[in-house]
Parts: sequence; C-alpha cells; structure tokens
Amino acid sequence: MDRQNWAQEAAAKIKHKMYIVAGRNRHNIPYTTKDGKFDDWSGDRITWWTNGFWGGIMWLLYQDTGEERYARIARVSEKKMEQCFQDFYGLHHDVGFMFVPTAVADYRLTGSPDSRRIAMHAANLLAGRFNPVGKFIRAWNDLEEDTRGWAIIDCMFNLSLLYWASEESKDPRFRQIAMMHADTVQNNFIRPDGSSCHIVEFNPETGEMVRSFGGQGYKEGSSWTRGQGWALYGFMISYLHTGKQEYLDTAKRVADYCLTHIPENGIIPVDFCQPPQPAYEDSCGACVIAGGLLELAKKMPEGDREKYEEAAMRILRAIAETRADFGEGCDAIVQNCSGAYHSLEHHFTMNYADYYFIEAIYKVKGTDRLLW
Ligand code: GLY
Repeated sequence: MDRQNWAQEAAAKIKHKMYIVAGRNRHNIPYTTKDGKFDDWSGDRITWWTNGFWGGIMWLLYQDTGEERYARIARVSEKKMEQCFQDFYGLHHDVGFMFVPTAVADYRLTGSPDSRRIAMHAANLLAGRFNPVGKFIRAWNDLEEDTRGWAIIDCMFNLSLLYWASEESKDPRFRQIAMMHADTVQNNFIRPDGSSCHIVEFNPETGEMVRSFGGQGYKEGSSWTRGQGWALYGFMISYLHTGKQEYLDTAKRVADYCLTHIPENGIIPVDFCQPPQPAYEDSCGACVIAGGLLELAKKMPEGDREKYEEAAMRILRAIAETRADFGEGCDAIVQNCSGAYHSLEHHFTMNYADYYFIEAIYKVKGTDRLLW
C-alpha cells in the first residue's frame, strides 16, 4: 500500500477513536492514562507544560474533519489556561508548548481576537526570560538548584511562539530573541557528530558556557532521543520562519545523526546511546523525530528526500502497527512513552505523543497545515 493510502487508513482509525475519546474528555485537560482513562490537569495543575497538547489535538482534528465540536472542546482548555497568567509562578519557557497549539492555533484557524491576546501575553512572558549577555532563553525556574543559567534543547520548539508574535505584531524583537537563542543552541548544544545535548548551563552573569548535563537522557554526552527530535524539528521551524540556511543545515545534521541510529525495526529507545538492556523505549520521541524528518524532507532535493521520508515511515509504521491502540478501551493512542531514561516509570502514555503522532499522520496524508 502506498504511503498516502496507508496514512489515510491510519487517519480514519484516529478519527473514529478520537470522536469517542474527545467526547468523554471534553471538560478536561488530559496528560496520561490510568487504567486506560485519561486524567485531568485543570485546576491547581493548570501550569503543567503539556497542557496545550490536548487543545492542540482538538485543533488538528478540527482541521482534518472540519467539525465544530473539536473547536469547542479546544476552547475549553484555552479558557482554563488563562488562569496560568494569574498563577504565574508555575510558568516557565514552555509557554510556547502551552500556547502555540491552543491560542496560536485558534488564532491561525479562526482569527479569534481573544486567542491573539492570550498568545501575545504568553510571547511577552517568553521574551522576558531572555538572558541578553548569554543570548539564551532561561528554561526553568529555580528548583532545588540554581537554574538561572540553564537552557534546554526542548526550547527550540517554544521559539515558534516568538516567531508568530513578530509576524503578527510586525515588531522584530521577538524574532530577534528567537534567532539569538537558536544561534546559541547551534554553537553550544549541537555536537560535531550532529547529536544534541539536553541541558547546557551558562554563567548567567558572563554568558560563558559552564557545562552540559545528560538531563532526561542516559548520561552526559549521550543522545536523549526526544531531545534529538526537539533539535531536528525545532531547527526546521526556525528555518521555516526565518529562511536562515544555517538552521536548515543544522536540522539536516541532526537528522543525519538520527538516520545512522534509528534501529531497523523503527522502535526508538529513550537514548540512542543507552545499553541494550533494559530496552526502554520512547514512542513520543519517535513521533517528534518522524515529524521533523517529514518537514526536512519537504525542503530536500529529489534524491536526498527519499531517505528522510523512508526513515520517518519506518518509525510511523512501527508506532501504528505495534505501539498504537486504536480501540476504545484506552483513551490514549500511542503506548510505550518514557519521560526520562532514569525515571522509575517507563512505557506509559503521554498526550504529546498522540499530538505528534496525529500531526505526522496528517503530514504523510498531505493534508497538514503547520501550526508551529
Ligand atoms: N519538554 C520536556 C520533555 O520532552 O519531556
């Protein structure tokens, strides 16, 4: 079966399942499942960084089906998430992950003025985390340790909020901050072999790089797979918004690293450098890498394009055929996700795995519209 027909079949299964799942979770903001049922991160957990993905899934379905019910459900979470601005303290750089798939998506698809206001507010908060001496966006707030100088690869995805804010307001400051951060990441995170660090610490006063950490990966110097996905797809997003050739070249370098490490069976480990046992997997990182490869392939000349598309398809077929639950018994689709290599728990469901899986299926189907 050709790719497009295969993706159409997968999309039909998604549509059938999500009609039921969306209906029974229409008042909630799910993150993961317990005994097959989605939980709810509204209320005092509203600033949790993945809270935008449920609304994002609803906007993907709205775009695909044209059914208003998905816009209505997406707006339930968008409305609840306005509470984040009151709470404030729980927010950090992930306002991009939170408000691009919700408020920006709503604005892009419907032109809602309320969504524009929410997204602009979030973009200003993100811009406020920029360290102008080190030219990086600070990732987290202080936890047990001083994180004033910490930046993480995941932030490459948050930059799309800044690109959107400049495009929308015609004020270049947001784009300038995003590009300075991307340049810093290019110079300090991406290694000569094309792999990426997860966390880099800079001196917050002088901007000098201090050290890197393994973060959610296996160890310092290793290659956390979801981080490779954030780097690959994130640099593609920066390229698409700026046209800066170096960003495309960097995305390609990370992709080429991934291509030499993706296993034959398409099942993605938590870290490309982890030992064979325990065989921890991360289906979520798999979907992010697949999405990045598909975006990169669109910009590659014929002859080069195929290898990126084929690698993305190997991953997506492995997910759809061996790690996806299209039945109604479990609210989530994608199984076997892992938060971090050293976490006690592995192989559970995550709302953002479903988001990137559905998004990638629509890319293969050829009906996607990039909301980032
Ligand atoms: N951005 C955090 C994660 O990917 O787990």
